[in-house]
Amino acid sequence: MNREAELGIIRELIDYIDSKQTADAGRVAVSPTSSYTDEGLAQREWQEFFVNHPQVIGLSGELPKPGSYITCEDLGLPILATRDERGKFHAFVNACRHRGAQLTSEARGEKSRFVCPFHSWTFATDGRLVGVRLADQFGEIDKACHGLVELPSEEKYGMLFVHPRQDGEIDVDALLGAELAAELAAWDLGSCVWQGESVLDKPLNWKIANDTFGEIYHFTALHKKTVSNLLHGDALGYREYGRHHRLTLASRYIDAMRALPEEEWKLSSACAVAYYLFPNIQLVALAGMLVLVRIYPNREKVGQSLSRVSHFATPQIAALIESAGRVSKVTAENLYAADTSAQLALDVTATVELFVSTVEHEDYAMGEKTQATANSGKVEYFLFGRNEPALHHFHNNYRSALGMPPLAEYRAG
Ligand code: FES
Ligand SMILES: [Fe+2]
Repeated sequence: MNREAELGIIRELIDYIDSKQTADAGRVAVSPTSSYTDEGLAQREWQEFFVNHPQVIGLSGELPKPGSYITCEDLGLPILATRDERGKFHAFVNACRHRGAQLTSEARGEKSRFVCPFHSWTFATDGRLVGVRLADQFGEIDKACHGLVELPSEEKYGMLFVHPRQDGEIDVDALLGAELAAELAAWDLGSCVWQGESVLDKPLNWKIANDTFGEIYHFTALHKKTVSNLLHGDALGYREYGRHHRLTLASRYIDAMRALPEEEWKLSSACAVAYYLFPNIQLVALAGMLVLVRIYPNREKVGQSLSRVSHFATPQIAALIESAGRVSKVTAENLYAADTSAQLALDVTATVELFVSTVEHEDYAMGEKTQATANSGKVEYFLFGRNEPALHHFHNNYRSALGMPPLAEYRAG
């Protein structure tokens, strides 16, 4: 993002705070609660968004060096993603070509070779079958035809894209659009260092989980004692990029920062930036930390979903986190105005904990309640306010992708 764009975001947020305005969807929308309970809809969503659509399975920092690997079970098939000896990213079906054993059940690690735990066939990190134990006894096979089954994959703008279908196509620039692609490139996501992952398997539909990231109207009530101390609740910057969108949230520190000359304004201190990438990705940058949330439907239960919350740090902050201790107290002042990078690193660590804990114990806990309401069948629809434009966009997007009409406008009276 260029400097003028950064200043534009900051000025807009200050203006919203002063004028008590926020991004405006221009209408109130009616959203049927059946969208969180309809099993037929859930099946179509799964097919269109999670089988027939490219997926972000992580950021480049999850495969930091040749031989790094991660596994993924979230897409209905076991996936083994590797970085080969030459540094190239691959995604394979995690299945040995002898009799289908999974080559590893570890979530992540490093290996120069994958030795099958069943009969010790050996595969290289680029998928080649390189060893058949007791090949003479086993009988002759063409090794070149029995490498791991490879899925389409691409690493771009620091993200790892996989298509769950072997015949699927990935065109990252077409998916993101030029403007968002350029903006994401500027974040240099590829340099971010993986720090850890939390998994939230909860009784709420995957779209309710997404909804919790789609508005900040709830901050002053639901997050009164947590992130409301760090971020303004009712001043939202918002823009759309095709099916994707970006939220900008003013930090509390913006109130002090605005007194400084504009040359000293910093985007990372002024606000949190949250991207939604269709269909199921939330990418949140907040004061030096970066959180990637991947939200998956549960295929058996429409009212259940699994969120993988991975967090990352810039190389500089990652090095500091490694050498530093930890603090538990996060305030707007010590987070954004930290005058030493060591203090910032400590606070970033604590911020991640606060973020995950808030999502789990406040956002998703509330999402479980709204799911229960939807399950009851007694409440026909929810309302999305003018101040919740990302909810309109997210729901209209998936509806449009499934050939459904947009949400109806609510009209009072
Ligand atoms: S299933 Fe892998 S070596 Fe037999
Ligand atoms: Fe929230």
